[in-house]
Parts: sequence; structure tokens; C-alpha cells
Amino acid sequence: MTNIVILTGAGISAESGLGTFRDEGGLWAQHRIEDVATPEGFARDPDLVHRFYNARRDQAAKAKPNAAHVALAELERRLDGDLLIVTQNVDSLHEKAGSQAVLHMHGQLNRALCATCDHRWDAPLAMHKSDSCPACGQQAPRPDIVWFGEIPYQMEKIAEALSQADVFVSIGTSGEVYPAANFVAEADHFGAHTVELNLEPSAGASRFAECRFGPASEIVPIWVAEELAR
Ligand code: APR
Repeated sequence: MTNIVILTGAGISAESGLGTFRDEGGLWAQHRIEDVATPEGFARDPDLVHRFYNARRDQAAKAKPNAAHVALAELERRLDGDLLIVTQNVDSLHEKAGSQAVLHMHGQLNRALCATCDHRWDAPLAMHKSDSCPACGQQAPRPDIVWFGEIPYQMEKIAEALSQADVFVSIGTSGEVYPAANFVAEADHFGAHTVELNLEPSAGASRFAECRFGPASEIVPIWVAEELAR
């Protein structure tokens, strides 16, 4: 019986055609975070923020899971133990690949949130500031995305899973954003074996017991096959 927690970041979706944030030409090279990924930016210009997320929602809707997402779904099906994917990604490529136990700590593009009454619903492909909340009728819809300065979702559940993990794997994340960047330290504290699978060493690479570098679509299936053969 082996319990595994896997943290994923934008790098796992890169080969599915979805941009990362901090790579060359990434999303944060094209847009100012304070304009499109903060509550203040949304209050200042909700149309700009809706346009930013409408474009990403449209792109994510067309994207297909790659071999890394598919391998993690197979791991969940065949592992003798619990697997939890904690993703920083707001796309639904893990679910499209068949993963069931997925926790979106930064929210999801395909969900909408009412800034007035906190009601959540399935987001239309294109959201507009004049959309009415299905619950309270107010015109205060926002993407159900955790912006900078806001609290990531389900942190208690994540902490509980990390305390029970035998293995913690970080895939496709730069390790630049907290609290996700500290999960390796939490898992290590509870005795988990820690693995980084990334295109290149992340900011936190030295904190992992094991590191493998290369494109996720190549190195994740190899790691999954070894894990299942144990
Ligand atoms: N295979 C594996 N790793 C890859 C690949 C690939 N094909 N392409 C890029 N990477 C790696 C990069 O080397 C980098 O370490 O993925 C990482 C992407 O880092 P970021 O762009 O910083 O994305 P992420 O770590 O997910 O950002 C975390 O920051 O802006 C916020 O909320 C946003 O969830 C996001 C968070």
C-alpha cells in the first residue's frame, strides 16, 4: 500500500499547447499580473480580466491531455494505495485524461463565482461582467480562480494528504509560488520520498530527494511505469 500526492503545475500542460507563466514568452511576459490576476485588477477593469480568462478558457476547452496526464490517470487506476493530484493548473486536462481525485488549489477556468453571494456554477465559454448570478441575480460574476493575495482552496485537505504521503511528486512547476512551493518540505517532514519531474531544475530542486529532468510527456510515463512495477 503506497499513498502518493502529486503536485502539478503549468509545465505538465505545456505539451498540450497551454502556455506556462514564467518560461520565455510565458503568460506573465504578455500580461501584468496586477492587471489580470489580482482582485484589485478585477475591480479596476473587469472587462480586461474577463477577456484574459475567456481567451484561456477557449484555449483550454480545445486542449487535449498529453501522455503525462494519461500516465497519471493510469497510476490512479492501478496503484495499490491512494493517489491525490493537487494541481495549480486551472485547465481540466487531468479530468479529461480520466483522473478522478483532482484538487484545483488555484480554482478552475470552467467554474464561475459570484463576487456578491459566493455561489459557484459552470462557467460559460465566454463570461461578461453583465452576466447575472443564477442564485442571487446580481451582475458580479468572476472567474472561479484564486488570484494573488487570495487563499488557495482546500489547504486543510492538502495538508492532511501530505501528512499521509509515502511519496510526493512535483511535476512541471517552477516552485516560485507559495504555499505550493512548500509542499515538498511538508511531505519530507512526514517522511515521504520526494521527487521532482521537471523540464529543468525548479527553484526548489535541491529540496527533493530525487530529480529527473525532461519533457513531462516523456519522463512522467517512465516514472509511473517504475512506480507500478514496484
Ligand atoms: N515538461 C515539464 N516541465 C515543463 C515543461 C514540460 N514540457 N515545460 C515547462 N516546464 C516547467 C518549467 O521548467 C517551469 O519550471 O514547468 C514550470 C512552469 O513554471 P511556471 O510557468 O512558473 O508555472 P507554475 O509553476 O505552474 O506557476 C505556479 O503561479 O502564476 C501563478 O497561479 C499561477 O498556478 C500558477 C502558479
